Amino acid sequence: MSRKIIIDTDPGQDDAVAILLALASPEELEVLGIVAVAGNVGLHQNATNARKIVELAGRPEVPVYAGCSRPLRRALVTAEHVHGETGLNGPDLPAPSVPLQAQHGVDYIIDTLMGAEPGTITLCTLGPLTNIAMALIKQPAIAGRIAEIVMMGGAYFEVGNITPTAEFNIYVDPEGADVVLRCGAPITMLPLDVTHQIQSTPERLAAMLAIGNNSATAAHAMLTFSETFDLAKYGWAGAPLHDPTVIAWLLRPELFTGRQCNVAVETASELTVGMTVADYWHVTGRDRNVNYLRNGDAEGFYALLLDRLARLP
Ligand code: RIB
Ligand code: CA
Repeated sequence: MSRKIIIDTDPGQDDAVAILLALASPEELEVLGIVAVAGNVGLHQNATNARKIVELAGRPEVPVYAGCSRPLRRALVTAEHVHGETGLNGPDLPAPSVPLQAQHGVDYIIDTLMGAEPGTITLCTLGPLTNIAMALIKQPAIAGRIAEIVMMGGAYFEVGNITPTAEFNIYVDPEGADVVLRCGAPITMLPLDVTHQIQSTPERLAAMLAIGNNSATAAHAMLTFSETFDLAKYGWAGAPLHDPTVIAWLLRPELFTGRQCNVAVETASELTVGMTVADYWHVTGRDRNVNYLRNGDAEGFYALLLDRLARLP
């Protein structure tokens, strides 16, 4: 039986590839809906991008909602320097014809979780955690009904990307991340520790382009745009590919290793705000609230990604 998921996202080229991977896997994943959040670029551009992606994947029936337009407390920080002014620079995708749903994305998350059997819906978060935090604040009962929160976010052994200590998704809304990390729902984290091992090398990008369908060609154009910043910054063979690891965890968890441990987030210090502190060696007695993944099998990941992209239009 397929796993029901809601994707919370700020597309973003890597978000887009994650959504394509999920939509290419209907035997394992039923994408109930996609909720945009402010992050890589502004909320409504992210929502427009999500609508473009469901159409690219030939899945116009998947509903797209708009959630929160800014973090719980802080001013919004965006990442046009990585993703371009549209957030989805690279391919020339047509304006979407599918509508944006009228219901607020936070209410959609609450109503869907409250209306389903407890433990049957997984939240896949690919951006700042504002929407999930707002849903937990508005309706705390959802915490006991979430099957799992699988999030791309955080960093510990690999340190930060937007600051020396913080990963972007957590940094944008550290208070939101704190609410989610404390909520009690099962959480699996795909941090930079993992995603920095998943590098889109020229060989892997060439294999993606060789697939030849619209989705893989667009994904190639997306990643060859967004890689520019990271290749210049890190000098690696390929840019790290972040958000699709969330979906890959659901499809092939054996590709990843880590351990259950405490993860907390800094919300006070201006020097380290947004830092996720993983008690990986259990030196505190703090609640082991997160399945913290530390390693990923890049070859296995790309084999999965390319196989699934080939199934799309
Ligand atoms: O730090 C990487 C994360 O920030 C990814 O989700 C990427 O899309 C950006 O939102
Ligand atoms: Ca993202």
